[in-house]
Amino acid sequence: MPLIPEEAIQQVLDRADIVDIVSLYLPLKKAGRSFKALSPFKAEKTPSFVVSPDKQIFHCFSTGKGGNVISFVMLMEKMDFPEAIRFLAKKVGVDIPEERFQDRKQENIQQQLYEVNAVAVEYFSNILLTDKREDVEKVRMYLKERGLSLETVQLFQIGYALEQWDGLIKHAQKKDIGLRLLEKAGLIIPREKQDGYYDRFRNRVIFPIVDARGNCRAFGGRTMEKDNQAKYVNSPETAVYTKGRHLYGFQLAKDSIAQEDFAIIVEGYMDCIIPVQAGVKNVVASLGTALTVEQIRLLRRYSKNVVMLFDSDSAGVAAMIRSLDILVEEEMLVKVASLKEGEDPDSFINRYGADAFKKCIEEAKPLFDYKFDFLAEKYDPSSVEGKARISAEMLQTIQKFPNAVVKAGYLNRLSKVLGIPEYALRQELEKLEPQSGQRSGQNEVSTKTASPQKRTVEHNILKLLLEENSFIAVTRKDVAVEDFQDQKIRSVISKIYDLFDQGKSVNPTGLINCFEDEEIQTMVSGLIAEEEAMIDNKEKMYTDCISRLKKDRQKSYRQTLLEQIRVAESSGNHQQLEMLKMEFNKTVRGL
Ligand code: UTP
Ligand code: MN
Repeated sequence: MPLIPEEAIQQVLDRADIVDIVSLYLPLKKAGRSFKALSPFKAEKTPSFVVSPDKQIFHCFSTGKGGNVISFVMLMEKMDFPEAIRFLAKKVGVDIPEERFQDRKQENIQQQLYEVNAVAVEYFSNILLTDKREDVEKVRMYLKERGLSLETVQLFQIGYALEQWDGLIKHAQKKDIGLRLLEKAGLIIPREKQDGYYDRFRNRVIFPIVDARGNCRAFGGRTMEKDNQAKYVNSPETAVYTKGRHLYGFQLAKDSIAQEDFAIIVEGYMDCIIPVQAGVKNVVASLGTALTVEQIRLLRRYSKNVVMLFDSDSAGVAAMIRSLDILVEEEMLVKVASLKEGEDPDSFINRYGADAFKKCIEEAKPLFDYKFDFLAEKYDPSSVEGKARISAEMLQTIQKFPNAVVKAGYLNRLSKVLGIPEYALRQELEKLEPQSGQRSGQNEVSTKTASPQKRTVEHNILKLLLEENSFIAVTRKDVAVEDFQDQKIRSVISKIYDLFDQGKSVNPTGLINCFEDEEIQTMVSGLIAEEEAMIDNKEKMYTDCISRLKKDRQKSYRQTLLEQIRVAESSGNHQQLEMLKMEFNKTVRGL
């Protein structure tokens, strides 16, 4: 975010009226002080999409999405924050300097690497498509045997690196590209005992790894030899490539992922290419490892639904099981498809055809069933020992669901399938929860998600602060950030205090900008979009909420003290015990 000057962002926000911008996409109808429309995110019959011109925010009540004009553009155009700012800046005539003075050097090197990689892509691809040498002829035969058409080879910009030590080096020299730059791109390797370099990729089929904008960031090279060298050699990490940050085939798949509203994640290069060629276009490859959070965040902008389809060998299953938990944690809706033993998507389609493949995808099992079946095969679910093992591993995943209702639903199912009472599972689950252990900290308040009732109080306070900035000063003096138990509300309150301390104004639009977390943006827009119900009793509402919050703070402080008293009693620490009791009595008197 610091890359675009703060004033420029402010200027864009000042000039880009949310009603004007939204109107470019949706027909808005006036409804009181707001505007309404049918949700652009979901088919619906009654409008639940609200735009507030006063507060310059939108909120969609049917999907819960919301934010300011920038968030709206990000959602509609699938852009990230800087992209959306630049997009809006163009529309409303704000000049944003292209130069990022701060990391101009960094950007330069990245740009240079993209350019070098593009040259390499073209070089490898030209060889594969046109070179008459016998070994290249063989590679073309090999790819044909694997079922690749010429269009597919061109679509994925597949190439071939000759069996030479300096093929690319010579080509680059002709193009006046320096060796240092080629080295930074990971395309050549310095010799150990003498000066000079040699090509990293030799006698390999080349698969360029291209990002969402079409920049080539790295390469994978598949050997043509049958001996026991590594089957694939990949680019090292460079200024434009970090392992696990990218998804192979993403650029080609992204529109289809949005359209179909799910992504299929496979392991290997060919497992991505062959389905796409067969007409299943929403496929990306994780490239042989468990999924990472970064990869999931790339996908999430396009769809929250994922079908995992890893090889059915033990490495594939293990990688999949590991990936499931982070998918859950990132609130993706996961299903798992499996192929016949010994097949991967590429070999499966070649053997059984695209329709059989599509059927496999349709029959993907929900996460719970997949993991349970997997464990039921590994351990005996009829024995006590087996039940314990299975529940322990299932709970690991269940624990990761951020939504308490979903969590409860899965607990209930697990209890039914295993024939174990729910309270026992709940007990085990609590042992896993990281924050439920006794804290010995001073008056530390639990940071677990607060109960719904407490959250309403906290939500109301936040809403009031946003509606009436005059409340901020008193609150700042009276209430600590830690008095709020809800993590997300806490972050927003803390930001509000920061802005207040700096003498800056606090408005919902600006506040939304401070957070990348979509849930926080949505929470803020949701609060604002709710009816301003308590117009005449805001004062009373405010005092009520604050006193509730303070009582809660006292109560949880007393609980902490009681816990510490119990510990001191059982360990016979009399001095400490006396102090704690005194402290406790003080809080009771204060009631
Ligand atoms: P696989 O061994 O399953 O290969 O590795 P594959 O994709 O089926 O390849 P083909 O069909 O034999 O050509 C799956 C993925 O793991 C990564 C690659 O991304 C590969 O596509 N991998 C595998 C490596 O990076 N290095 C290796 O040595 C092996
Ligand atoms: Mn394969």
